[in-house]
Amino acid sequence: MDSKEWDGISKDYYTEILSPIRDSQNSPLLNDLKIINHKEKLSVADLGCGLGELSPFLSKYFNRVFCMDFSPKMIERAKKSNKDLSNVEFIVQDISDLREFYNSFDVITSINSILTPDLHKVDKIFLEIYNSLKQKGKFFCVLPSMEVFSYESLLLAHEEIDKKHEKKIEDVRKIVRSFIKRKEHDFLLGITNFEGKQKAYYRFEILWRLNKAGFKNIIIKKIFYPWEEFEKAGQKAFPDEEMLPWDWYVIADK
Ligand SMILES: C[S@@+](CC[C@H](N)C(=O)[O-])C[C@H]1O[C@@H](n2cnc3c(N)ncnc32)[C@H](O)[C@@H]1O
Repeated sequence: MDSKEWDGISKDYYTEILSPIRDSQNSPLLNDLKIINHKEKLSVADLGCGLGELSPFLSKYFNRVFCMDFSPKMIERAKKSNKDLSNVEFIVQDISDLREFYNSFDVITSINSILTPDLHKVDKIFLEIYNSLKQKGKFFCVLPSMEVFSYESLLLAHEEIDKKHEKKIEDVRKIVRSFIKRKEHDFLLGITNFEGKQKAYYRFEILWRLNKAGFKNIIIKKIFYPWEEFEKAGQKAFPDEEMLPWDWYVIADK
């Protein structure tokens, strides 16, 4: 989606987007940011900040905060709802070109904002983030998981198999495909298609891409969502399944 499409989403943002801060079961990100030493002297950038949901938290704990988004409408609304935060700057900025911010930030956060289906741009963004961190800077990132959609397919298949044990595998595949096909996800390249194409990430892919950009000490964890939230976002819920759907939560060092 381009900045104009995100401009459009900005008015119905809270009904359209699953948020790791608001909707998740466990949100380790805020705790991990809180335990950073001497953060009152550090500068942080939130890239793809959307409506600036993280801004009050970052403003409270860090010295200077730079919230960037390429959607002018998102920035306008983020500015409006955070006008009392004196140490926060809101900037309309495409994060695939951060040349003016190289070596500027001690910490960078990016919460479900590296979503472009252009794989070249995806790599460019990770590289730009790496370049914008100061030496030993830290990157905290949430990325949609591609595995979740394979998990959803598997659960759909088993729902069919369990209904009737002798069901032919071709029939099961047809049913799963008819559900998944509506969305035309690209499992080869890790691109989802709901109302537009967006990047989602395989676990190995995150390691590979961040490593390629130069990051070290890459840690990948899961942020879980309750099935109800997954369903609200247009997916199929499997409330009896203990393993919940998830986003990837990534921490990496420059
Ligand atoms: C799903 S929203 C997440 C917003 C916010 N981080 C949150 O968690 O609420 C994705 C945001 O990333 C922004 N975005 C996507 N691609 C971008 C790019 N190349 N440069 C800057 N912002 C981008 C969109 O405009 C949108 O506001």
